[in-house]
Amino acid sequence: MSSDGEPTPFEVQDLIPIIDYSLLTSGSANDHAKAVQDIGKACEDWGCFMLVNHGVPETLIQEMMDMSAAFFNMTTDEKLEFEAHGVLDPIRFSAGLNLVNPNKDTLWREYLRLIVHPDFNCPYKPPGFSELASEYVKKTRAVAMELVKGVSESLGFEASYMNRELNLDASFQLLAINYYPSHVELDVSRGLMPHTDHGLLTLLCENGVPGLEVLRGGKWVGMGGVPNAFSVLNSDHLEIFSNGKYKSKLHRTVVTDERKRITLVNPNGPSLDTIVGPSSRLVDGEKRLPRYHPMKFSEYLECQTKLITAGKNALDEIGIPI
Ligand code: OGA
Ligand code: NI
Repeated sequence: MSSDGEPTPFEVQDLIPIIDYSLLTSGSANDHAKAVQDIGKACEDWGCFMLVNHGVPETLIQEMMDMSAAFFNMTTDEKLEFEAHGVLDPIRFSAGLNLVNPNKDTLWREYLRLIVHPDFNCPYKPPGFSELASEYVKKTRAVAMELVKGVSESLGFEASYMNRELNLDASFQLLAINYYPSHVELDVSRGLMPHTDHGLLTLLCENGVPGLEVLRGGKWVGMGGVPNAFSVLNSDHLEIFSNGKYKSKLHRTVVTDERKRITLVNPNGPSLDTIVGPSSRLVDGEKRLPRYHPMKFSEYLECQTKLITAGKNALDEIGIPI
């Protein structure tokens, strides 16, 4: 703050942008144009934003949080029924390497990853989980698809361009539920190492317990904490498709709060067989060279998993040095 109480330019610049979803869909051309402009600015300048007024009912979110807690509260044996290893396995539970005997030096997180589109998959228990999750992902998918239209327009294209080019009607959508136990349940460091996500945009909803951080100007900045808002992050394939204009956002999670943190995370990708490279409309002759090698999305996923294990970032590996 400056002495007269006005925020200094640095503080203003440090605030994560807030996008009002209702303006994007309101039907007023002026509101829509403003929302598209704000999305473009947020994607280019920050690589992330908070999304308010998204219309996904609070009660549905609360029920999903309760149901997720019920899933993770099942016994280890019950959860291990859903353990899987391949990135394309439709249902994947994991508690990392330290499920039984956690090592205090590693970051602890349990997760359940479900492929929810084009086909919907979910564990059959706890009772009612599948119905609830199906409703939740339909709602969040609609929001993500609308946002992608806004992103498409913000790049100067027609709203449907990215949908067509990336075959989003058959898009690969995940629901990843992350569970960071309470300090009382498990006395370990809880969090997630720095990484970028695959896909176009990731939508993240948290249970009110903070932890997400994004890298901004060499500093980690806390993200979240806006009631009833989603955190939205640019992901790798948005960076590739926009030929580097909308950078994928590096983020990590550090949970210091004693309470348990639960996040519902939706990475939204193209269809699995889409070959993603820089949009041909953003590349021409000598002036705007492509900065990434085209790669089939499913191959990228496999490759990313291997590279993460080796401590590398997939995007760095497929960028064309310029
Ligand atoms: C993810 C992720 C953050 C969180 O699942 O990719 O970044 O706080 N999650 O759960
Ligand atoms: Ni992530």
